[in-house]
Amino acid sequence: MIKGCIFDLDGVIVDTAHYHYLAWKRLAHELGHHLTEMENEKLKGVSRMESLNVILDLASISLNEEHKQMLANKKNIWFNDYIERMDPNEIFPGVHELLASLKEVGLRVGLASSSRNAQTVLRQLRIQNQFHAIIDGSMIRHTKPDPEIFLMTAERIGVQPVSCVVIEDAEAGVEAALAAGMKCIGIGSDLILGKAHKVFPKTSDISLSTLVELG
Ligand code: BG6
Ligand code: MG
Repeated sequence: MIKGCIFDLDGVIVDTAHYHYLAWKRLAHELGHHLTEMENEKLKGVSRMESLNVILDLASISLNEEHKQMLANKKNIWFNDYIERMDPNEIFPGVHELLASLKEVGLRVGLASSSRNAQTVLRQLRIQNQFHAIIDGSMIRHTKPDPEIFLMTAERIGVQPVSCVVIEDAEAGVEAALAAGMKCIGIGSDLILGKAHKVFPKTSDISLSTLVELG
């Protein structure tokens, strides 16, 4: 039986996944690499430095740690330029309705994001108080596909992993949810998120019954 629902943030609650992509694309361009949307799928859900490492591999560039830190900081400044202009209107359709229906039936709700900017994004969207627990990239040692973040969130919301469902838009996130022994709903393309229990194009396609049926 499903007793808890854990949301990813970027690409599930709001289109910050696109802002990440634009900022990484700009950085990749400076490094002489054209970052495609398909390549960008490998950047979703993983940490800032892991994302940079993927780009450097694609561009066949090897740099020292200090230089990599400088590039990661630069990308983060560009990303912050986008998020500081965000407001609650950017929350995806269906998110408020889904959160309200989860609350109505007493499900516990968590947020698990690999991003160290998650608190800022949630503040901009003014939805921090909608979650029983929020775990972000600054609180974990291993990012998705490691299950750590989802197991930590389940513990904080007080629900056994087996009774949790995760909503994710990243392949690494789907793998992390499955490794945690949870159910998973993918948001995006079936071709990329095919391992999830169910895949829908948009967050607004999910209803309370979609979650409950997975139990
Ligand atoms: C994840 C995104 O939520 O956070 C990744 O899917 C991103 O694309 C990661 O790289 C880390 O984000 P940040 O904000 O800490 O650079
Ligand atoms: Mg995401």
